[in-house]
Amino acid sequence: MKVRNDYLPDLVRIVAMTDETVDLRTLRLVFEDPSLRDRFSFLPGQFGQYSVFGVGEAVFTIASSPTRKGYIECSFKLMGKVTTALRDLEVGDLIGFRGPYGNGFPVETLKGRDLLIIGGGVGMAPLKSLIEFCLDNRRDFGEVTILNGARTVADLLYKKEMEEWGQQEGVRVIQTVDPGGETPEWRGKVGLIPNVLNELAPKPDGKFVVVCGPPIMIKFSLQVLDRLGFSPDRVITTMENKMKCGLGKCGRCNIGPVYVCKDGPVFTAADLARLPRDY
Ligand SMILES: Cc1cc2nc3c(=O)[nH]c(=O)nc-3n(C[C@H](O)[C@H](O)[C@H](O)COP(=O)(O)OP(=O)(O)OC[C@H]3O[C@@H](n4cnc5c(N)ncnc54)[C@H](O)[C@@H]3O)c2cc1C
Ligand code: FES
Repeated sequence: MKVRNDYLPDLVRIVAMTDETVDLRTLRLVFEDPSLRDRFSFLPGQFGQYSVFGVGEAVFTIASSPTRKGYIECSFKLMGKVTTALRDLEVGDLIGFRGPYGNGFPVETLKGRDLLIIGGGVGMAPLKSLIEFCLDNRRDFGEVTILNGARTVADLLYKKEMEEWGQQEGVRVIQTVDPGGETPEWRGKVGLIPNVLNELAPKPDGKFVVVCGPPIMIKFSLQVLDRLGFSPDRVITTMENKMKCGLGKCGRCNIGPVYVCKDGPVFTAADLARLPRDY
């Protein structure tokens, strides 16, 4: 019997790329193996290890929805070794992909609920997958409110998608930039995400909230949601930690007994409150 090596990536070809911002690019990838194009399945919020041959691997969320068949997308920010090498590739080039890994968002629990989706910077990548999933299964979900923030207008992600989503019935898109990051034409909000959230003061009313972004934004947003009366088991977020295997084997990502790669990266605020305090 042929044993599959878990660390062996599948080949994916870059078929399109979009520069979202000056340092953040979205790649659309198609499996070279045609049978994988339909067979590959995942949940919004899951991630993969993407490899540039001869350079290394980096972890990115799958930014497209499993409902969009035939391709996957990732959005990566220029950070270091692998992302620099990835930036040098072109449409038509091959890279490696292994996954999907992690638990993903609890989409079954979210069904029938109003959703408040809050994203900052590249934290919007897993949320894009979730939003597309909700919109492709529109009748399964209630009202969707999206709060998207970035440092400056130029740093806002998925500008085209935000516009399209905002035109759909039952979807409201609110965008904000940090003070000083606005332009004269800017018609959105100006303020840090937790402050804008505080000002919007959404009512819990059985809603689920999903928050992804830099740790500092998550920390203060969770505090605001707590003050507004949202139950910690209805507030969902994602965690990042250094990772190597992605499979729960190497012990690189764990916080006490919890493996971010396997038990996460999606956790509720109630889960986070139970983690060891010194992480
Ligand atoms: C579950 C998960 C999902 C992610 N999804 C995305 C995504 O969708 N898009 C995206 O752009 N990035 C994402 N990241 C972060 C991404 O994996 C790192 O930025 C990536 O390793 C950069 O690779 P590199 O080789 O270019 O940088 P490196 O040369 O490895 O590192 C550059 C710098 O970033 C630091 N660093 C690397 N990884 C991490 C990390 N996980 N946490 C904190 N610091 C780190 C290094 O210490 C170094 O200082 C995700 C991380 C995790 C764990
Ligand atoms: S990345 Fe290896 S155990 Fe999580």
